[in-house]
Amino acid sequence: MEALAKEPFAFNPFDEETRRDPYPLFARARREHPVFRHEGLPVSSVFLHADCQAILRDPRTWSSMFPTPPGFTPEDVPRSMLVTDPPEHARLRGLVSQAFTPKRVRELAPRIEAIAHELLDQAIARREVDLVEALTYPLPVIVIAEMIGVPAADRGRFKAWSDALVAPLGSVFFSEPSPEMIAEQRRIRAELEEYFVRLVEDRRRSPKDDLLTGLVQAELEGSRLAFDELLAMLILLLVAGNETTTNLIGNAALELLAHPDALADVRADPSLTGAAIEEVLRFSSPVQMDPRLAARDVTVQGVTIPAGEFVLCWLGSANRDETVFERADSFDIRREKQNHLAFGFGPHYCLGASLATLEAEIAVRVLVQRTRSFSRVDAEPLPLHPSIVFRGVTSLPMRLEQA
Ligand code: HEM
Repeated sequence: MEALAKEPFAFNPFDEETRRDPYPLFARARREHPVFRHEGLPVSSVFLHADCQAILRDPRTWSSMFPTPPGFTPEDVPRSMLVTDPPEHARLRGLVSQAFTPKRVRELAPRIEAIAHELLDQAIARREVDLVEALTYPLPVIVIAEMIGVPAADRGRFKAWSDALVAPLGSVFFSEPSPEMIAEQRRIRAELEEYFVRLVEDRRRSPKDDLLTGLVQAELEGSRLAFDELLAMLILLLVAGNETTTNLIGNAALELLAHPDALADVRADPSLTGAAIEEVLRFSSPVQMDPRLAARDVTVQGVTIPAGEFVLCWLGSANRDETVFERADSFDIRREKQNHLAFGFGPHYCLGASLATLEAEIAVRVLVQRTRSFSRVDAEPLPLHPSIVFRGVTSLPMRLEQA
């Protein structure tokens, strides 16, 4: 232990071992380097709950308007609400926020439940499945596709696009994008644009009762939504919610397997599933890191971050902060206080939080109800999501025993 304590502190978020279990290093960072400057880079990592929360709630000091990464042009990076500051941010978010209120989301529960059963019918019939392919990916993508009004049958294409768009997320803070990466990102955006232009034209001619029609109407009014903003919104909605919710459902299945008492509790009392999902959000946060740009020189924990530099708020660490959560490293589905930062905090607080939680709750409840047991097919290490922003696996072979 002592030898370990004397080792100089280093934090490389790309290191495979660190990514599999970042929590011991996060704990040490909170004690010894609550703000860690990445040497030679204009980037610092922030590990405490209080600091992450204070940064995320203050968009004047900590901006989301990141400069265009080297090699890209502003046209390559459409401005969605995620990367705007107030007041533009409120205008963009206001255009879709009605569709994501807890009440509107609750109305989707029967449809989400029906999709979960359909997917599990097929999965259980096969007995051995990749749970990502069979459940955790298709469920959120079908739901959001139906909400937006894009054909859910195209979901194979959405997956290819969103995998390609999010894979490099986070890496731009540490290295310049390669020409191949830039070309790939441009190709994906061009394909997405072509795909959506056709759908937008369709809704201009024949409006329907979906989010796309609402956005097209805002775009037609001109002043409310420019075409590139409309496109950025569609891409954000189609991508933001999928990778993350897929990871949440997968992480939930893994944590329940790792904590058989919690699984037994959920089996005995399915009404605990919602609380179990909240604990998975805290304990195995699908979004591990949320970046901001310093708008002025700011000092955090004695470390000065000059204007124009980045801070990376490690939500995964904040959610294990022992000054906020008792027994922070225990997975406890009966926790009362749940002020985790898994969905961010402040003006950019996840728009899809209610939807994601409901989807995960239904997916896990139906998985538990429909199976006598579910288990890993082997003990091989699972392939990790390629981006350092996310915690999750891209494949989860499982054996399902029908209930
Ligand atoms: C477990 C699932 C999810 C997690 C962990 C998650 C996490 C997050 C986080 C941490 C942010 C804050 C980003 C920031 O501070 O800059 C965020 C923003 C956002 N999320 Fe989610 N998200 C999830 C699911 C969804 C879903 C299902 C949707 C929609 C269909 C969605 C749509 C959005 C949007 C539009 C924003 C940007 C909000 C803004 O900038 O005002 N998310 N999400």
